[in-house]
Amino acid sequence: MSLMTRPFPPPPLKIGDLVIDPPILQAPMAGFTNAAFRQMVREFGGAGLLATEMVNARGFVWLDENEAEHPDRLWGVADEPRPLAVQIWDNDPNTMAKVGKRLVEEYSVSVVDINFGCPVRQVTEKAHSGSYLLREPDRMFRIIDQLVKACAPTPVTAKIRLGCSRESVNCNEVARVVEEAGAAALTVHGRTAQDMFRGNADWERISEIKSHLRNIPLIGNGDLDSAEKVVAAFQNYNVDGVMIARACLGRPWLFAQAAAALRGDPIPPDPTLDDQRQCMLHHYELVRDRFGEEKGTVLMRKYACCYAQGKRGARHFRTHVARVATAGEFYQVVQEHFPTQ
Ligand SMILES: Cc1cc2nc3c(=O)[nH]c(=O)nc-3n(C[C@H](O)[C@H](O)[C@H](O)COP(=O)(O)O)c2cc1C
Repeated sequence: MSLMTRPFPPPPLKIGDLVIDPPILQAPMAGFTNAAFRQMVREFGGAGLLATEMVNARGFVWLDENEAEHPDRLWGVADEPRPLAVQIWDNDPNTMAKVGKRLVEEYSVSVVDINFGCPVRQVTEKAHSGSYLLREPDRMFRIIDQLVKACAPTPVTAKIRLGCSRESVNCNEVARVVEEAGAAALTVHGRTAQDMFRGNADWERISEIKSHLRNIPLIGNGDLDSAEKVVAAFQNYNVDGVMIARACLGRPWLFAQAAAALRGDPIPPDPTLDDQRQCMLHHYELVRDRFGEEKGTVLMRKYACCYAQGKRGARHFRTHVARVATAGEFYQVVQEHFPTQ
C-alpha cells in the first residue's frame, strides 16, 4: 500500500485473531516491565498490548526441573488482564517450543514473542541468542516454526533489529523468513545490534520492510517519545503498529496521550508534578507489596529516576534517591527533592 492511501487513524492491529486496539504496544524491557510497571501502564490506558521482560527459556526449564519454580519475571502473568505478551529468548528450537507451550497452557498468555534483538554480550556472545541469531536466519526459521506449532492457536511474534551491524543489515531477508516460518507479527527496532542505542532509529529502513511482508503486520520501534511522534510514525512510514520503550518508563501516561492523538482527540496534558509524584508513590507501593521494603526500595530507585528525568532538579533528586534503602528514606527524599516546578 502506498503511503498516500494509508488510512488515518490507523485501524486496529491484528496479531493472529487478536485485535490490538489502539495499535500502540508497550515494549518488553528487562529489569523494568514487571507486573507493577504493567499495572501502572494499564491504569492510564492507551496501550493495546503490554509485554513482560524477556524470559530465558533455558532458565525456565532449569528452574522448573531443579527448583520446581518458575522465573520471577513471570510474576503476575497468570492473573493480570489480557492481552499480554510474554517474551522469551534462547537459541534452541526445542527448548523454546517447550517453554512456549507451557506459557500457553499454564499461563494462557495472549502472545509469545521471541527476542531476536537483544545486543547485550551476555545474550549474544555467551548464549548465541538475541540479535546474534540475525546472522542465522535458518535457525531463526526453526525456532519460530517449532514455537508456532507448539503454541497454536496462540500467536507467536518476533522482535528484531535491522541486523547485527551496519555492514550486515539483513532485515528484509529476515522479515521474509519470520513470516514464512509462521510468525503472526514482526516488530523492528530501527537500529543494528552494533549501534546499541547510538544514533537515531532508521524509520526509512523499518518502512521498507513492509514490502517484504505479505500478510503479517509490521510494528515499528525506536525513539518514539511523544504523542506527536507516534502520529508522525503512522503518517510517514509504512507500519501497522508502533512500540514504545524508554520514553514510557517515567511516563506511563504516554500511551493514553498517543492513543488520544491517534483518535484525533486533544492530547491530554502531562499530569501535574504533584500528580506525577503521587503516581510514583503508587508505583512504589506496588513494587513494595511484591518485593518487600528492602528489595522494593532498591528496585524503585531506578524507576524514581525515570519519573524525575527531564525535569528541573532531576540530577539533584537522582543523587539522593540513588542512596535510599528504607521506605522512610524514600518518602523523605521524595518529599524534599522530587522536582516541584
Ligand atoms: C532497559 C532496557 C531493557 C530492554 N529490554 C528488552 C527486552 O527484554 N526485550 C526486548 O526485546 N527489548 C528490550 N529492550 C529494547 C526495547 O524494547 C526497544 O526495542 C528499544 O529501547 C528501542 O525503543 P525506544 O527507543 O522506544 O526505547 C530494552 C531496552 C531498554 C532501555
